[in-house]
Amino acid sequence: MASEAIVELAKRRGFFFGSNGAYGGTAGFYTFGPQGAALKKNVEDAWRDRFTIREGNREIEAPTIMPEPVFEASGHLDTFDDMLVECPECGESHRADHLVEAVTEIEDAEALPGSEVEELIADNDIACPSCGTALAGVTVEDFNLMFATDIGPGDAQPGYLRPETAQGIFVEFPRLKEYARGNLPFGITQIGPAYRNEISPRGGLLRLREFTQAELEQFIDPEEDEPPLDRVRDVSVRLYPATEQQAEDGEYVETTVGEAVDEGTIGSPWVGYYLGVAKRWYDRIGVDLDRFRFRQHLAGERAHYASDCWDAESEVDGDWIEIAGFSYRADYDLSKHDAHGDDAFTVFKRYDEPKTVERATVDPDMSVLGPEFGGDAAAVAEALETLAERDPDAFDGETVSVEAAGETHEVDADVANFSVETVTENGEHLTPHVVEPSFGVGRTVQTLLAHAYSEDEVDGEERTYLSLEPEVAPQDAAVFPLVTNDDRLTELADRVATDLREAGLAVAYDDSGSIGRRYRRQDEIGTPFCVTIDRDGIEGDGPETVTVRERDSAAQVRVPAEELAEELAALRAG
Ligand code: GAP
Repeated sequence: MASEAIVELAKRRGFFFGSNGAYGGTAGFYTFGPQGAALKKNVEDAWRDRFTIREGNREIEAPTIMPEPVFEASGHLDTFDDMLVECPECGESHRADHLVEAVTEIEDAEALPGSEVEELIADNDIACPSCGTALAGVTVEDFNLMFATDIGPGDAQPGYLRPETAQGIFVEFPRLKEYARGNLPFGITQIGPAYRNEISPRGGLLRLREFTQAELEQFIDPEEDEPPLDRVRDVSVRLYPATEQQAEDGEYVETTVGEAVDEGTIGSPWVGYYLGVAKRWYDRIGVDLDRFRFRQHLAGERAHYASDCWDAESEVDGDWIEIAGFSYRADYDLSKHDAHGDDAFTVFKRYDEPKTVERATVDPDMSVLGPEFGGDAAAVAEALETLAERDPDAFDGETVSVEAAGETHEVDADVANFSVETVTENGEHLTPHVVEPSFGVGRTVQTLLAHAYSEDEVDGEERTYLSLEPEVAPQDAAVFPLVTNDDRLTELADRVATDLREAGLAVAYDDSGSIGRRYRRQDEIGTPFCVTIDRDGIEGDGPETVTVRERDSAAQVRVPAEELAEELAALRAG
């Protein structure tokens, strides 16, 4: 089903629509209507159930605005850019790399330097998509995607809306590790909004300026901690590893998680573990696995923090879209915050047995180093200190050689004034590594709608229905009195709807239009069961009965009204 058709159905039936329509609309912002908000919440609950609760992780909720130093440390201020080209004629901005990808065979133009993209624009006579003006010779600029703001009045502190929920977890690591009593591995999750000032928002929920992420930051000791890989060893996966081949022919491997990790196709067992967990989860919520794959990022495609990344991709309208990323972030984030922040972003790793070690210190006073080191004296002193900490033996000879400020310096050991002492150490400070499954909730919702969209014929009439999994469908059931002019029917219908709602089900009540039209309305929003109250159900001496119609098969069964809640639970479970 075409994306435009999904967007049209989504608007008509209350899943989602462009925001601020009364004021002309604002590109990149979508409001979830009653059906969409319920579907999205159900996806988030299913994610929480799988990635927080069943994995034994804990969830937090951090602010969405964070001060500038956080993003200086994280690297987002310097590197979280997209390539922008602004049309000199109409002033519209476009993603330069996307323009190039649209007319060449290149699939990852964002990995190219701006100058090369400029050349490709000129060589391929690329024109502004809005007004047709040739863009040859127009400069390609780096455009930072973060929304800036001021925190407080007056000499306000600069701040940014977070571009990923992850930073709200990383900056609180010094406290979060205490809650985990300093023990690795542990995982922290967060579901919430992230903001990116995208140059060209598009495709309904696919590229927004405000969107919801569901992220897990798994903190591990890279030398000791192993994931419970056996739980997902036999999960079959379609992998597109980052090889030249992949880029050229779309070569893929059909394998299992266990084999892919054993053979090194997936480098990190933790990443492999979460790919397996994710694949099962996508199946559970209704992603069509024939339209699903994992693709490894090519080197130039990876985010600044990632040393490896696999994307989960789904096929929507003939295009493969990234719906989640599984990055190996190593110690990138915690090391950066450790260097920039005031607290310790390390954990203390206790040795099995205390160790006796020699620790050396140097006198870092610049004066003892003499004038021969000139302006580099401080750098040389620092290098000596680092060397002393790491390698006391380096000071045994008469001179010691250190690298500082791009040169090798020979320092007289006496001048460095080093001393060595023997100490007992119980452990060491370790910067944990991070493995990060990061899901886009909106893209998941759009995938579910695209994969659930179905058409068939019932009683000689064409119909459209959403074959959503009951776990995520916006409504659990709908209740219809067959006619509205019989109090006995409407009373029973009211009672049935109230009882189901009291049992915790989301239930629609619809008494307008023909029964056929009422079924069609519920089919189009994916309600799995419609309960109809008719005269046959209240006549006679037996217990009151109702009919239950299952959405996909349109098959009906008659059940006692009193047993309806259990009957629906059994039907849901299949
Ligand atoms: N913390 C890692 C991170 O943010 P990402 O690949 O940039 O990684 C993770 O984003 C997921 O968030 C993506 O896989 C995608 O599903 C979703 N996402 C990213 N940018 C988006 C946007 N502009 N609109 C909608 N969803 C987006």
